[in-house]
Amino acid sequence: MCGIVGYIGKNQAAPILLDGLEKLEYRGYDSSGIAVINGQDINVAKAKGRLQVLRDKTGDGNDVKGTIGIGHTRWATHGEPSDVNAHPHLSQSGRFAVVHNGIIENYLPLRERLTAKGFEFVSETDTEVLAHLFEYYYKGDIMDAMIKVIDRVEGSYALGVLCSDYPDSFIAVRKASPLIIGLGEGENFIASDVTAILKHTRNIHYIEDNEIVVLTRDDVKVYNTDKEEIKKDVFTVDWDISAAEKGGYPHFMIKEIEEQPKALRETISPRIKDGNIVLDDVKLTAQDIKNINKIFIVACGSAYHVGVVAKYVIERLCRIPVEAQIASEFRYCDPIVTKNDLVVVISQSGETADTLEALKVAKSRGARILSIVNVVGSAIANASDDVIYTWAGPEIAVATTKAYSTQLAVVYMLAIYMANKLGTITGGQYKKYINELEALPDLVAETIENKDQLAYLASKFYNCKSIFFIGRNLDYAVSLEGSLKLKEISYIHSEAYAAGELKHGTISLIEDGTLVIAIATGRDLFDKTVSNIKEVTSRGAVVMGVTTKGKTMDGIADHVIEIPETSDIFLPSLSVVPLQIFSYYVAAEKGCDIDKPRNLAKSVTVE
Ligand code: AGP
Repeated sequence: MCGIVGYIGKNQAAPILLDGLEKLEYRGYDSSGIAVINGQDINVAKAKGRLQVLRDKTGDGNDVKGTIGIGHTRWATHGEPSDVNAHPHLSQSGRFAVVHNGIIENYLPLRERLTAKGFEFVSETDTEVLAHLFEYYYKGDIMDAMIKVIDRVEGSYALGVLCSDYPDSFIAVRKASPLIIGLGEGENFIASDVTAILKHTRNIHYIEDNEIVVLTRDDVKVYNTDKEEIKKDVFTVDWDISAAEKGGYPHFMIKEIEEQPKALRETISPRIKDGNIVLDDVKLTAQDIKNINKIFIVACGSAYHVGVVAKYVIERLCRIPVEAQIASEFRYCDPIVTKNDLVVVISQSGETADTLEALKVAKSRGARILSIVNVVGSAIANASDDVIYTWAGPEIAVATTKAYSTQLAVVYMLAIYMANKLGTITGGQYKKYINELEALPDLVAETIENKDQLAYLASKFYNCKSIFFIGRNLDYAVSLEGSLKLKEISYIHSEAYAAGELKHGTISLIEDGTLVIAIATGRDLFDKTVSNIKEVTSRGAVVMGVTTKGKTMDGIADHVIEIPETSDIFLPSLSVVPLQIFSYYVAAEKGCDIDKPRNLAKSVTVE
């Protein structure tokens, strides 16, 4: 997944492009580049490595003159990170420069055809095919060339294209990859997301697949592939700039952990009116809900872990069978999905390729699609029948925290909403759950206050080579997320295991000093999990227990982390917090790149 940005205006483009790319580095950061038109020439600067390398190479952009340009920060898919493979890519004659986020799935046959016609490729990327295709189809009208190019290529793209014959405009288009259009005063922008241009403008266009955008200094026009102009609404983004900045925190991740109470309030409050849960964004009628045969929850990574929580919560409240599936598995298992099924798709970015493709498989089988997404106008949101947005604001750290938490909140609201329509909970339970839901952000804030104990525990255990997370039912679902958090930012191997399953083999790995983090918050299963804790301590394990204030693990666990009491179904929102914070401090002790862990990207828009 990559980040692209484009500018046309009265100021020098390169410094603006570099600032924009800095905000997009979370989308990929193994190389970067810019291309700027100066007179009749397109000047290109590219560099392997972090954006700072490109800044150093171009004097912070001051060495690259011109007031119209495009930029790119890369997460390599085709071709290793290198100067040559970095975008922008030039066409044979140098007339076109292209930046691209996505995958051209038929790039190989196209490359072969172009090579046979005498085009010479210098990189290993799929994107370079686009640059030469523009050259191949260009007969003097760049719009015609664009229409031919997007007709030929298969796959996903967000494109910014410069042409030296057009020194006062540039064009852009998207398909299945994110792209927004920024509307300024005497200047206009393209970007993979709003954070890249927020300091310049809050007014944006969202564009649909294969809508072609022509940007000049004073105008932005959008066309369909019949060259008919399309009128687009102007949206005003109300994120404050600080929301996309670190705000004095050492890392975005700890900032976003601390933002969870606010993100939860902003996600929950607008949906509780006069003591009722109101899901205006959902067109599911009571009868639709009663007709649901089965619910599938499809997602990746942490979003999938929310799906596992959702399975337990929805089944418990609504008594509808729920199956949580990893999107990349669901997509290829020929799923038994029918028009009587509801498929809930969860995605922070709304652009995850595995999840988007799984959504399409479900849709093709007639299922109704309800998505839970954090990015307005994203591909998954646009492809759904119903969308419930999480209002977490921009989440910059690659390891999700506040988006995960707000997804949980939406799952709770959906489950309580449906259970109330189904009559599978009493009026008293409905009211109780709503009251506890409204109190949840404050309980999360209280849980976050326990940072010192977690920092101490991290200082004791950051050298562990392997850590186990165990729990039952909802606690097991949270153990999945705790394990992933630790792995992805501290690079320590860890495994989440259903506590009752450990004794069926894996317990053989437990030896003196093995750290086991046992989540035991659920009332009904607390004693069972305590038994499992004893099984591992008797084999030498050191146990860090996570439980609620009403229970005691003295003499059972070596270290105990307590979270506030609330109904079982909401406890995942509390028990996950110490696991997030513990992982953060372990990674900090190890000096890891917490916000941009190795090998990862914030949104994985490739399979
Ligand atoms: C979470 O910390 C990871 N960065 C990753 O597992 C992520 O949850 C997954 O890639 C799904 O992303 P999405 O929510 O944007 O679809």
